[in-house]
Formats: sequence, structure tokens, C-alpha cells
Amino acid sequence: MSDDLSPDLRRRLSDARQQHLADLYDAAASAHRGALGDDIRGLDLDLVARLVDRFVHADEAAADLGEIRPPAAIPIPRTPAQREAERAAAAEGERFVRDGRLALVLLAGGQGSRLGFDGPKGDFPYGPVTGKTLFRQHACRVAALRARYGADLPLYVLTSPANDVETRASWEAAGHFGLDPTSVTFVVQGTLPAVDRATGRVLVESPDRLALSPDGHGGLLMALRNAGALDAMEAAGITTFFTFQVDNPLIRVANPAFIGYHLAAGAEMSNLAVRKHEPAERVGVIAEIGGRTGVVEYTNLPDELAERRDARGDLELWAGNIATHLVEVAFAQRLTDGGLHLPFHKAVKKVPHVDDPDPAEPNAVKFETFIFDALPQARASVTVEVPRETDFSPIKNAHGSDSPESCRRDGNRLYAAWLEHAGVAVPRDEAGEPAADLEIDPRLALDADELAARIGPEVRILGPTALGPLG
Ligand code: UTP
Repeated sequence: MSDDLSPDLRRRLSDARQQHLADLYDAAASAHRGALGDDIRGLDLDLVARLVDRFVHADEAAADLGEIRPPAAIPIPRTPAQREAERAAAAEGERFVRDGRLALVLLAGGQGSRLGFDGPKGDFPYGPVTGKTLFRQHACRVAALRARYGADLPLYVLTSPANDVETRASWEAAGHFGLDPTSVTFVVQGTLPAVDRATGRVLVESPDRLALSPDGHGGLLMALRNAGALDAMEAAGITTFFTFQVDNPLIRVANPAFIGYHLAAGAEMSNLAVRKHEPAERVGVIAEIGGRTGVVEYTNLPDELAERRDARGDLELWAGNIATHLVEVAFAQRLTDGGLHLPFHKAVKKVPHVDDPDPAEPNAVKFETFIFDALPQARASVTVEVPRETDFSPIKNAHGSDSPESCRRDGNRLYAAWLEHAGVAVPRDEAGEPAADLEIDPRLALDADELAARIGPEVRILGPTALGPLG
């Protein structure tokens, strides 16, 4: 019987206190050994040992936040001067995009466990009228931006080993939603094992698989680097990429004012923020922490800080992070030189495994890195506030807030406002909400002004309505 776990690997497994994996391999049926051996060989055992020491055995506490204040953000323009500044920034941003200096990065490597949808989250059919998927929405927006700016705007889609094959297959089956297939690159992020919460031993999902999960959206940086994408961007004269999340269909991708502000500040990484609507809202907050811009995850923000109010009675730490960033390619190169320079976080979760397929209590520790942890390392950074109603309606949960229902409501409200701006009468119910579901394809209009230029008051809304490209 061939033994393809080398003596060196067996020694390293033992040193990393993961001897049980060699025992499991030896006891495995030969049909299971191929995949199991691959999973075991794929582990970064030194890293696993370090993470287990820090987060399982020592249970490292979250770092003390120290002095924390709201960020010096660029507000939603309210005064003529602010509006003028926004117009100037947008003009710079548009020029930059037209010059072919921007790439787009769609984060779609997550597991979507809260939504409970079977398949890549991007395949979720969220469109209330057409049933279009999140992937289709984003791809149509990319097509519209390319047409508007006459720019290549190459798209990188971050997947994970758990959804990569299915994601590529769904783009393939949809003809890449009309995008040139050579302009879309799939990049697979890495994985990290889930370990038993009490012992730190790597969990085994099935006889031929370890319990591996994506290494967090911070894995994006290493994935882009390892796939040669950062070098390809540089070779194409691209200096900056815009990252956005698959589960937020409203996001104004390549927002030109955001780009303009980022450029003007010579920033290496910048953020969009929305005003938190309640202290307990489950979004991270962007803040100045010890004098540097950073993000505190909601799980690490003490209630006392989350609830603190300023003299006007507004939340002091108001800047909700919507995980939409501009990142300089050179900064991403620096962060990944000789390995990923981001801190790890732990999450205690229920992870089914061979000895307990349905754990009653959280039994495992998972490890992740977060893209926003790069912020404190940026030489300069800008935070720009955007209205929630135009930019943020994520689909995280199956029901309630941040769910398909809330996203449908927010989409209806936004598109109703655009239609009314174009002079179209939108029937509303007694609560003032649009009486029918509405969808506007990004290829028809990316914003209210564009819609008003394309259609007029002759459009009648008689029931659920989806407006698509004309002609
Ligand atoms: P979330 O962590 O909010 O969502 O990721 P999720 O992982 O999809 O779902 P849950 O937490 O299991 O319910 C926010 C965004 O970051 C991407 C997701 O695809 C989503 O666009 N992401 C997250 C990655 O690309 N990789 C990861 O490892 C984690």
C-alpha cells in the first residue's frame, strides 16, 4: 500500500499537535486517501499551530481599542461648496476610469451561511420581478460602466474552493452575462481549517475531507497576488482596484467621486461608510483608533462605545463599514510581500464533523483575516459617507433585516424615486411605499439622471415592472 504522507509531513503533523490526521489517514479507506491526503498536505501547519496557541489554548483577547474617535469623513454634500467639491472629485474619478486605471474586484468567496442558500450567494435570485441573480445584477452594472466610460474595467471575481467550480459554471452557463469572458478573471482564495474548540485539533468534515473554510475576505489580497492578478494589473497600467460585496446589489460600483477623493488624498486604501441606524446594527465601524484609520467589528465594539452619542444626540461612532474599498495595487503588493501582513481573528461557530454531524453548541474555532485590517497600514486613507438608500442593502439573513425582503423594499424605494425623478407616476400604497415591485436594469440607467435622460412621463407603472435596456 503506498503511503503518500511523507515522513517529514508526519513529523510536522506531530509537532503541530495534529497527529490525529496521520492516524486518520492511515485508517482511511484507499478511496478516501487521495482527497484527504491533498487536504492534509494543503495545511500550513506552522500557521495552524500558531493560531491554535493564540486563540484556542491562550484564548487571546481582542486588543484594547485605546483612544477611539469618529473618522474625519467626507460628508454627503449638503452645502453648495460640498456639492461643488463632489462634482470636482467625480470629474477626476471619471477621468481616471476613462484612462483605464481602475480594476473591479467582486468579493464572492463567502459561505453565505446565514442566508442558508444552497450554492454560491451570487446565484441567489434576488430580483423581485425578473428573479435575476446577484451575479447578473453586478455583471450588468459592469457592462453599463464599461459602456459609459469606454474603459476595459477588468473584473476579478473572488471565489473560494467551496464555490469556485459552481461559480465558474454559472457564469459560463449565463454566457458571462454578456461580458467578454476574457475580461472576467476568477481568483480562488485560500482556506483555513476549523479546529475543535477544546483541543485545537483540526476537525474532519467527512472521511475524505477536512473541515476547511475560506480564510476571510482578507484572503483576497494573497489570492490576487498568487494568481498573478496584481502583476497583470500593473502591466495593464492599472494602479487601483475597487472592491465590492456580492450580497449588496445596490452598490454604486466605481463611484467616481469616491475615486476622486481617494486620488486627491494620495490614499492607499479608502472606505465608503453609511450612517449606522442603531447602536446594535451588525456592521463594523470605521474610526480613528490610536490616531490611525481602522475598523472595529461589531462583535468587538463594547456596548458603551456603540451607544455613545455626540452633543447633537447622534451616534458618535456612526460610520458603518460597508466593506467597499479602493485599494492601490502597490499597497496590495506591499501587504503580500513574503506572506500576508494582516492579523488573524477567531470566530467560534458550530461546525459539523464526522464525530458530531449536528453540534448543539458552537464547538469549533475558525480563523479569518479581514480586508479592512489593512487600513492602519495605509499611508493615507479617505472615508466617504454615502446615503444608505443608494448604496447599501445587503442580503445577509434569510428573514428580517438585511434579507431578501428588506433588499426588495429598498430597491423598490430607490427605483420609485428614480422613476419619479423622470416624471413617471409611481402608484403608492397607504403607507407611502411603492405599490408594485420595481427593477431597473443598470444597462438602462445607473442613476436617476441617466434614467430621466432615457425615459419620460409616458411610462406607465401598472403592476410589477422591470425596465431593461432600450432597443
Ligand atoms: P460576509 O461574511 O458578510 O458574508 O461576507 P458570507 O461569508 O457570504 O455569509 P455568512 O457570514 O456565512 O452568512 C461579506 C462579503 O465578503 C465575501 C462574501 O462573499 C461577501 O461578498 N467574503 C467573505 C469572501 O469573499 N471571502 C470570505 O472568506 C468571506
